[in-house]
Amino acid sequence: MESTILEQEVIATEKAIARRMEVKENTTKTKSVMQNPIENIASPILNIDKLSVSYGGDKYSITDVSAGIAKNKITAIMGPSGCGKSTLLRAINRMHELYPNTHNKGAVYLGDENIYDMNPILLRRKIGMVFQRPNPFPTMSIYDNVIAGYKLNGIKLKRAEKDAIVEKSLREVGLWSEVKDSLHNKGTFLSGGQQQRLCIARALAYTPEIILLDEPTSALDPIATAKIEDLLVKLKKDFTIVLVTHNMSQAARISDYSMFMYLGELVEYGKTKQMFTTPKDRRTEEYLTGKFG
Ligand SMILES: Nc1ncnc2c1ncn2[C@@H]1O[C@H](COP(=O)(O)OP(=O)(O)O)[C@@H](O)[C@H]1O
Ligand SMILES: [Mg+2]
Repeated sequence: MESTILEQEVIATEKAIARRMEVKENTTKTKSVMQNPIENIASPILNIDKLSVSYGGDKYSITDVSAGIAKNKITAIMGPSGCGKSTLLRAINRMHELYPNTHNKGAVYLGDENIYDMNPILLRRKIGMVFQRPNPFPTMSIYDNVIAGYKLNGIKLKRAEKDAIVEKSLREVGLWSEVKDSLHNKGTFLSGGQQQRLCIARALAYTPEIILLDEPTSALDPIATAKIEDLLVKLKKDFTIVLVTHNMSQAARISDYSMFMYLGELVEYGKTKQMFTTPKDRRTEEYLTGKFG
């Protein structure tokens, strides 16, 4: 489901919204026994535990999803349109709560802590998000875009600290040499691929542990896409990456683990190589061989 405009607003008004959410009732506080379908993820950075998410009423967009996410790896979430990929991703940093009537069951543990018991602002510092369409804040300079997260949350930094964060983040996404002489120009003059790397830099500037990306290359040409893919592979040294993609070859190229979702269910989860060569579920196989999707 497309929600780019909403998501842009969401980021721009993050501070106010997060404050509103802090008073919103948490849905779950009980720890239950974790199921980890992949035995060889020894100590996952994130544990999704029987998570179900509804946007309202008794219809659930994802149901009973359990999975451990491996640290310093790329995990791809695949599946046909409408199967709940974005919903799962949003639920991992509580972005879905920005829609008015959501409720969920289950839990997501970051370390020992259920994210649904955490302060959402702090949570989103640890788990950052990059959206489908590059969405730099149009009125802000490149420089201010990179440190936008700090500004929006009222965190004051010294000039030298800001300079250091901006340079480090832009270097991390390979954009520094391209923009270092135009840091105070607006980010909207950049190409689509550069804008998306700027948005990744904005997420990195907050030094998250995990970066969630929702089809980050679907609006980009093949060259810009390849650059983002190379970047993600490089970034996994320092970050854990969860990537929604409906581009199977992208998942095959860059991910270590893959999930296949269908109709809100996590049908199969495994090492990417294994899933692409010997899928266990017939639905996964049909999807991967192009029978639907
Ligand atoms: N904001 C929303 N309000 C109500 N239903 C939604 C909302 N966002 C997604 N859905 C529904 O949840 C289901 C999963 O959607 P989504 O997570 O966007 O799937 P995907 O990212 O795999 O295309 C779909 O049936 C979709 O219509
Ligand atoms: Mg989606």
